[in-house]
Amino acid sequence: MGSRRSFLQSCSCPLSLFVVVVALAAPSADGSRAARVPCYFIFGDSLYDSGNNNNLNTSVKVNYSPYGIDFPAGPTGRFSNGRTAADIIGETLGFKDFIPPFASNPDDRQILVGVNYASGSAGILVQSGKQGGDNVDLSKQLRNHKVTVSRIVKKLGSKKAAFEHLARKVALAGISNIGCTPSLIATVGTNGAPCVTSVNQLVAPFNIGLKSLISQLKSAHPDAKFGYLDTIRAGILASQVFAEFKVRTTPCCQVSTVTGLCLPNTVPCSQRQSYLFWDAFHPTELANRLGAPILLPVIQRIL
Ligand SMILES: *[C@@H]1O[C@H](CO)[C@@H](O)[C@H](O)[C@H]1NC(C)=O
Repeated sequence: MGSRRSFLQSCSCPLSLFVVVVALAAPSADGSRAARVPCYFIFGDSLYDSGNNNNLNTSVKVNYSPYGIDFPAGPTGRFSNGRTAADIIGETLGFKDFIPPFASNPDDRQILVGVNYASGSAGILVQSGKQGGDNVDLSKQLRNHKVTVSRIVKKLGSKKAAFEHLARKVALAGISNIGCTPSLIATVGTNGAPCVTSVNQLVAPFNIGLKSLISQLKSAHPDAKFGYLDTIRAGILASQVFAEFKVRTTPCCQVSTVTGLCLPNTVPCSQRQSYLFWDAFHPTELANRLGAPILLPVIQRIL
């Protein structure tokens, strides 16, 4: 773990792609509801951020064009042209609206349905990603969720009612193969291999540890459900659709060599349906959709 951390700290990338937790609640007894579950809470980094960094003092925020080019209203703070994997999961679960970011101060009605706490450049460790400026690290995301839970208790009138609303279903995402991102391929080089093998080898032990942690959580909390989201397999599935190597390793937008993020107000590729990566780190909406068949069955199993 130490070597992985020092690697990420020494490279120019401000985005360390860390674990993502998706907490879902119990299925509603009320058959009239459209959504499969009453609520959906999202924790994570830039892969899931939907605007929490917009008002932070950081270079790792993307509330500018061409981000969000495939949303009718343009940029939202999502690190993609369109929807994130968290959005696609929400859409599949039947949520009609996007889960609002914590930073948008969602109202009482909204927090009953869910909150997104994810923050670009954030990691599990407080110091992770701080080279780009402020972020909301995982501990802070969990503290923010405590605020939400207190509000839900108040709104529903009792801890018991809140406990029933929030049942415990948690999907945890592993780290994806960061060595296959355009940023790492461009800065480190692959020596003829498709990806930077040394970087992917640093990712592997984290995911092994995460899977073992999930097993421990399952035995310690038999009243809860846990699932492992294999983002490496999702990435492989998505990349297989793109026959041409170039579009698997070239970002759709023009990126900054310092941050790997799209340069503000530049014109991105027009064929977003033929690119795997939107910027030097983050997948296009299409790539997120193509990888979803790996993630969704895991979510279905814990519902
Ligand atoms: C923003 O962060 C930079 C670099 O860390 C710091 O120099 C600057 O004072 C900060 N600005 C504000 C308004 O806090």
